[in-house]
Amino acid sequence: MAIKKPRGVNDFLPTVTSKWRAVEGLGHQMCAEYGFGEIRTPLFEETELFSRSVGEHTDIVQKEMYTFADQGGRSLTLRPEFTASLCRAYVENKLYGLPQPQKLYCLGPLFRYERPQAGRFRQFHQFNIEIIGTLSPLADTECIVFAWDFYNRLHIKDLQLRLNSVGCPVCRAPYRAALREYLRPSLAELCPSCQGRFDRAPLRVLDCKSEICQNICNNAPRIGDYLCEECSTHYNAVKRMLSCSDIPYMEDSSLVRGLDYYTKTVFEICATGIGAQNALCGGGRYDGLIEAIGGEHTPAMGVALGLERVFSVLASQNEDIELKETLDVFVVCDINNALTAQIAFTLAVSLRQSGFSALMEYEAKSIKSQLKTANRLQASYTVIIGEEEANKGTAQVKNMESGEQTEMPLNEIKQFLLI
Ligand code: HAM
Repeated sequence: MAIKKPRGVNDFLPTVTSKWRAVEGLGHQMCAEYGFGEIRTPLFEETELFSRSVGEHTDIVQKEMYTFADQGGRSLTLRPEFTASLCRAYVENKLYGLPQPQKLYCLGPLFRYERPQAGRFRQFHQFNIEIIGTLSPLADTECIVFAWDFYNRLHIKDLQLRLNSVGCPVCRAPYRAALREYLRPSLAELCPSCQGRFDRAPLRVLDCKSEICQNICNNAPRIGDYLCEECSTHYNAVKRMLSCSDIPYMEDSSLVRGLDYYTKTVFEICATGIGAQNALCGGGRYDGLIEAIGGEHTPAMGVALGLERVFSVLASQNEDIELKETLDVFVVCDINNALTAQIAFTLAVSLRQSGFSALMEYEAKSIKSQLKTANRLQASYTVIIGEEEANKGTAQVKNMESGEQTEMPLNEIKQFLLI
């Protein structure tokens, strides 16, 4: 039996990868505009990096990591997200010694053992930006603006920004206590996972998808009422800057995010029409993370944009990515004639070396069939090398749009194409 790909992963074929390159290209271009430098970290890390940062009691660490022992018996994990790796790299490469903040970005595949469904895969891709080394609320707003700008440039409509502040360890302790007191009488009714979360991570209950848990949480105390002065001032500044940037937001006190490292601002941008997995991106501030993995206390903020979901929402909104990939030249010849084949092949290679895209057939085909292929590939020009032309050192150059055909010496073709 033929071997199939594992569940929850995708093959991306050339018609699709060209669109991915366009979307990734937009990300690279925007990062240059916004002043982010690219960083590339390994696909796998020591498992402890993720358990310490993402959080021992999160779904990601408890159920979703691809963890394995290598030949040396070390526990390694395929990265389920970028932020922890970036922070590790920031500390390990002493990026704190460079001018702060460090604005870094990365993109690539991530791995989570989740139940595959529309918009949820076991290997998926993110475009991720982080601003490390500043507590300024402008950094929070800039990450949100970046994501909003990215979707706008792709003409994605009906975006909804959900915003919350999850406070800091100072304000979260009394809030956690108040939330536990509120949940305690309903403890037996909570779903089994939330019963387990009650002691260790009660804020997670707010985020539970079970209807019963959601109903119980309807009148739960709100973190917003417990924010300390610093967190409250910070949150207000972010909201003010968002209003100045004309970005509408919806405050959602149940937004706690699925990773433990967040402090202060958290947000998600959701889209309509792509089913339950409608978060296009998610991010927030994580002022304690770098310290938790062994660095100095360093405030930071970031966001990760899920790329598969960009394509789902574009498809659902009938938007396509405009691609400017074109074929400059299709070289037509008689492959069975050694001289024309040799001239055609060397011409195609030399055109490519000069920066033109050029294709030709490998197998013998009639001239008619080759011209049909050139048409299908939307070549701007065909260069036809018949036996007569080959003997004279010339070729017929045909403009495929106007149909105009000119015979010219082979060594004048490049110059002609440039005009
Ligand atoms: P996250 O919310 O886990 O955050 O993921 C961010 C985005 O990645 C989601 O909104 C979604 O678009 C996409 N995504 C996540 N899981 C999957 C999946 N299984 N299949 C397809 N797409 C998925 C983080 O990863 C944080 N590290 C974000 C961050 C950066 N926070 C601060 N800096």
